[in-house]
Amino acid sequence: MKVLLGLCGSIAAYKALELARLLIKHGAEVRFVLTKSALNFVTPLSCQTLSNNEVYYDQFVLTRGIKHLALNDWVDILAVAPATANMIGKAAGGIGDDLLSTILLSFQGPVLFVPAMDQGMWENAIVTRNVSLLRDAGFHFLEPGFGALASGRIGRGRFPSIDIIAGKIMAMHEKRGGLEGKRFLVTGGRTEEDLDPVRVVTNRSSGLMATELVRAVHCRDGKVKGIFGEVTCPLPQDVDIVRVRTSAEMRSALLDHFPWCDCLVMAAAVGDYRPKKKSPVKIHAKTQRVEFEKNDDLLMEIAGQKGNRVVVGFSLEDSNHLIRARDKMKKKKLDLIVSNLTAAVGAQQTTASILRKTGKPLTFKTQTKWEVANRIIDECMRSLTGKKRG
Ligand SMILES: Cc1cc2nc3c(=O)[nH]c(=O)nc-3n(C[C@H](O)[C@H](O)[C@H](O)COP(=O)(O)O)c2cc1C
Repeated sequence: MKVLLGLCGSIAAYKALELARLLIKHGAEVRFVLTKSALNFVTPLSCQTLSNNEVYYDQFVLTRGIKHLALNDWVDILAVAPATANMIGKAAGGIGDDLLSTILLSFQGPVLFVPAMDQGMWENAIVTRNVSLLRDAGFHFLEPGFGALASGRIGRGRFPSIDIIAGKIMAMHEKRGGLEGKRFLVTGGRTEEDLDPVRVVTNRSSGLMATELVRAVHCRDGKVKGIFGEVTCPLPQDVDIVRVRTSAEMRSALLDHFPWCDCLVMAAAVGDYRPKKKSPVKIHAKTQRVEFEKNDDLLMEIAGQKGNRVVVGFSLEDSNHLIRARDKMKKKKLDLIVSNLTAAVGAQQTTASILRKTGKPLTFKTQTKWEVANRIIDECMRSLTGKKRG
């Protein structure tokens, strides 16, 4: 994937350097085009060193390497990140008075704008009109996030997190989309149950599979909410996420949000057992025995009230995993089940199979969790198209 990163004069320009590093880590080749204003925020030297490529910022100089207009032939995706209100206005008005705006006029491939600006600018009626004009003309946008802005105010206008931008660029390149209007509820991470005020019983789920599911739905223009227990990976930002700790909290959040969704993907590792009682004081180290009782089967309970929603479960086994997964799918009346081996827990990659009600399982040899997440979403969409909302 060849990405041309267009940097404009925003305080968020420094974050585009990290974005370039992340894209390169995912196997992309990156080149930078900077506006004159962007040169006030980052240096061509940093961009050149990070991308290992020549940097472009003046359309009227001769370059030794690739020529400016030849960039159009080189690039797969043009991402203007950060995009200023000024550059959005120029693109919407068909103005090409510098290198980046000229490339925006002539490039015919996919373009992503990632705006970053103060809330006042983002909500300005002219900027809103320009964004709609560009959207209608087929340009893609990633909505800015909500939070602390460079001005010190709190509002909408933040440059989105770089993992979301990288996901969006990857999803565009892989031509993955088609989730507009679809609502996904994803649970992830691990629950923990208290033994006493300082000790917990839990498992080693990292939350990465669910994080990639949330990221993929968001980057493919679906609506997504996450319910996460404890995790050991960074959670996606700019997405609606509810945090829980125990299986009882997970149940309560699930019951609250389930009616909202079209599709539930239950990737959380909810503990099967909890201590029969929580000691109000630290249990003495000499204690030999602790009693456990079974937790409710949340997946079975929720799938029993799914109506026309699609419900996806996960099954983690050491052996006979496909047979056990199929039994679980039938018993719990799931639409799909993802069968993993225990080696997937905490790993960056996984070998997984997706089992459907009919047909052969779809099996993937060691893939990134991003890839598996996207395949699960594709299957959810197939199941959803066969159903009407209840
Ligand atoms: C410190 C500073 C920060 C700025 N940050 C932003 C910003 O985040 N978003 C934006 O749209 N404009 C921002 N501006 C204004 C733009 O830099 C200005 O409109 C400039 O003309 C944009 O040029 P360009 O679109 O060619 O990069 C900022 C200006 C300054 C001085």
